[in-house]
Amino acid sequence: MPGNTFCQFFRLTTWGESHGIAIGGVVDGVPPGLSLTAECIQTDLNRRRPGNHALTSPRVEKDEIEILSGVFEGKTLGTPIAFMVRNQDHHSKDYDALKSVYRPGHGDYAYQQKYGHRDYRGGGRASARETIARVVGGTIGKVVLKSLFGKDIKIRAAITQIGPLKINPDHWDWDEVSQNAFSCPDKDMALQWEKYLTDIKEQGKSAGALIEIYATGFPAGLGEPVFDKLNADLAKGLMSINAVKAVEIGDGFASVSAESSYDEMVMKDDTPHFLTNHAGGILAGISTGQPIICKIAVKPTSSIPQLRQTITTDHAETTLSVTGRHDPCVAIRAVPIAEAMVSLVLSDHALRWRGQCGTFGEIRK
Ligand SMILES: Cc1cc2nc3c(=O)[nH]c(=O)nc-3n(C[C@H](O)[C@H](O)[C@H](O)COP(=O)(O)O)c2cc1C
Repeated sequence: MPGNTFCQFFRLTTWGESHGIAIGGVVDGVPPGLSLTAECIQTDLNRRRPGNHALTSPRVEKDEIEILSGVFEGKTLGTPIAFMVRNQDHHSKDYDALKSVYRPGHGDYAYQQKYGHRDYRGGGRASARETIARVVGGTIGKVVLKSLFGKDIKIRAAITQIGPLKINPDHWDWDEVSQNAFSCPDKDMALQWEKYLTDIKEQGKSAGALIEIYATGFPAGLGEPVFDKLNADLAKGLMSINAVKAVEIGDGFASVSAESSYDEMVMKDDTPHFLTNHAGGILAGISTGQPIICKIAVKPTSSIPQLRQTITTDHAETTLSVTGRHDPCVAIRAVPIAEAMVSLVLSDHALRWRGQCGTFGEIRK
């Protein structure tokens, strides 16, 4: 399989290149009768698109969704939902110089080695424009999840570190996340990031960042026993986002230096209760009903206007400074993409559970 489809039951297939006619996708497995409009999807797409802030790429991409099938009179039909977003504001000329030179840190060399023929304009299929289709899939996933588990479920992400600057976890305020351009839950740190990124951009550099994703309100029981463990599928989905170099679930790498036992259980108000959540809400690949917690490390944008060493397609050494319009920190726009990947995985496992185990019951005794 060529790897353009994700998940098993609730499946997203994406298609398109950055400077082609459009980017799109097909979501299959959506239950019938759910309210779905282009407007509710557009809200999430607007969070992903560039041009929202001086510190994201100045490309003006409207990213307007067109739903082509699977929805009738504002409700899902249960048939494949095909959609597309037309590519506009192309500056393909910006990429002419890249026809025969590989950008360090981008996909150019690897794509050429694999396919021998590539669309070099804007990164082609390796461009993060492809993630538009993931955001659409994730938004449809949230509609499915709310229909199954109620309106109180939440999948939210925030940036907690940019470059060397970490938030103070004691200052965490979810309401703050939508109030600044960086999805930062710590008001004071958002101001520091603004200054830091402005400096970085002026110097022609770029910065990496840490994104944390929290899925709350989900029941115990989501996940499969062996290869499709919930944590394995989350790791795959999150790792597949452009520029993501590491994924952690729960304590992640901090587990290495932990010395004591994990997540003891007690009864509280006649209900099973965990005293801690080091596991990140997943045990043996199946959700426990605790918050599902993931973190992703996003690398600095590779396309920067600094002169760097590289080679041509004829394998001659050269130097390259990438001009054009790029984000100094791509993590800022990756926040809704991370939420979308978690939504896709949870939707898939929710529908798989319903298929095999029937309705979602109370906690089993
Ligand atoms: C939202 C988003 C926007 C991105 N924009 C750019 C960009 O403008 N320039 C760039 O060099 N890389 C950008 N990237 C990263 C590249 O797509 C990515 O580094 C490239 O495909 C190589 O893949 P890898 O870094 O995952 O190995 C972006 C990533 C995301 C998530």
